[in-house]
Amino acid sequence: MVNPRAASSFSSPSPLLRFRIHTSSSISRCVALLLAFSAVLFFFSHRQIDEVDRNPLSLEEFFSVSEEQLWGSSFGHGYYPCVKPTSRYAASENWDRYLTVRSNGGLNQMRTGISDMVAVARLMNATLVIPWLDKKSFWQDSSTFSDIFDELHFIKSLQGDVRIVKELPKELESAPRARKHFTSWSGVSYYEEMARLWKDYQVIHVPKSDSRLANNGLPIDIQKLRCRALYHALHFAASIESLGKKLVERLQSHGRYIALHLRYEKDMLSFTGCTYGLSDLEAEELRIMRENTNHWKLKKINSTEQRIGGYCPVTPKEVGIFLQALGYPPSTWIYIAAGEIYGGDTYLADLRSRFPNLVFKETLATTEELQNFASHASQTAALDYIISVESDVFVPSYTGNMARAVEGHRRFLGHRKTISPDRLLVDHSIWGVQIGG
Ligand SMILES: *[C@@H]1O[C@H](CO)[C@@H](O)[C@H](O)[C@H]1NC(C)=O
Ligand SMILES: *[C@@H]1O[C@H](CO)[C@@H](O)[C@H](O)[C@H]1NC(C)=O
Repeated sequence: MVNPRAASSFSSPSPLLRFRIHTSSSISRCVALLLAFSAVLFFFSHRQIDEVDRNPLSLEEFFSVSEEQLWGSSFGHGYYPCVKPTSRYAASENWDRYLTVRSNGGLNQMRTGISDMVAVARLMNATLVIPWLDKKSFWQDSSTFSDIFDELHFIKSLQGDVRIVKELPKELESAPRARKHFTSWSGVSYYEEMARLWKDYQVIHVPKSDSRLANNGLPIDIQKLRCRALYHALHFAASIESLGKKLVERLQSHGRYIALHLRYEKDMLSFTGCTYGLSDLEAEELRIMRENTNHWKLKKINSTEQRIGGYCPVTPKEVGIFLQALGYPPSTWIYIAAGEIYGGDTYLADLRSRFPNLVFKETLATTEELQNFASHASQTAALDYIISVESDVFVPSYTGNMARAVEGHRRFLGHRKTISPDRLLVDHSIWGVQIGG
């Protein structure tokens, strides 16, 4: 599950829908399987076109799709989670060296960052101190690690990999420590080099956890460890898990549901300069917000070019048209995994008219249930994460940490369907779609 991506494309019989199937592979045997599979799909799609030519279908017949196509798992091509260590693998040693980490970013950036730091601690033979969470970031959340994650489970489930402690031992609190911003996308040799710091220091402090590990060329056991850390060790805290489970059950009581990661929030539109379909006044408001946000580097943005280039989130209205075109019935329950939608009902009205069963966490949970989550952006994001991972179909309207993390986790759990609108084609009356899993 930790492999380079291979992609194959084929055309569906519909002139309006263009499908691209993405999948991952590591072994060439599997790539061969994939190519064989594409060939079969290609054959069928052409055969269907021939049939259509001879025997014209009505529009409804043409667009009718099976339950399986709408809700079934994506093609897994035989891939399955492989996280069990090899026989050569052993837990790290030299436990009197400590790695302290400040984890930055939103929930999903923190999750991947923390998993990478577990792997780094293993590579550097260090004890990992439970990471501090950055409270000063954009998300302004005062949650600690144990507010969001099940700390005890995290420590215990990685026992065979890395020693993890809640705090630095008292006698080391005032010890001199190396402060190190690790270089992003580094591999094993970089961290072996960094291990030289142990000669002079007993504690290395990492002020930011977002310096991702290399994706390729790492030993298989380190890749497996990353997966174990991310999917087995980083469980959410009990209060989050239990409310998340409740909300999923409430949704499931209506049948199958779609989780829509609708990135149509003010900060997103302002950051990307995507003002398509908005009023001049709104466009101006977003521009001013961008100008005034210090850590956003890009100030002058041509919104037309952003949209043509595929850098804009799909609008709520477009998502509605898109899901309808794919064949989802109007009775489908759609959970909106997002913060406050910009413009509120103004921009949701069209989507709601196509899919009236549109719900938010605020409509799904009671005020009392959400009380403890208010003003904790990361904990609220965790609820969205759980509901998105457990959904029958996940649709992200934009790429980003959350979209990628959820899509990956869904693959890991059995190639659950993820549908990503291809934003580059949105303006050209040809709908693009990527189905992953
Ligand atoms: C970590 O420990 C293992 C075995 O104890 C050793 O082979 C390896 O070189 C060590 N790595 C570093 C970076 O110290
Ligand atoms: C923005 O880009 C579009 C397309 O390239 C162009 O036609 C338009 O003039 C640009 N607008 C501004 C204000 O530069």
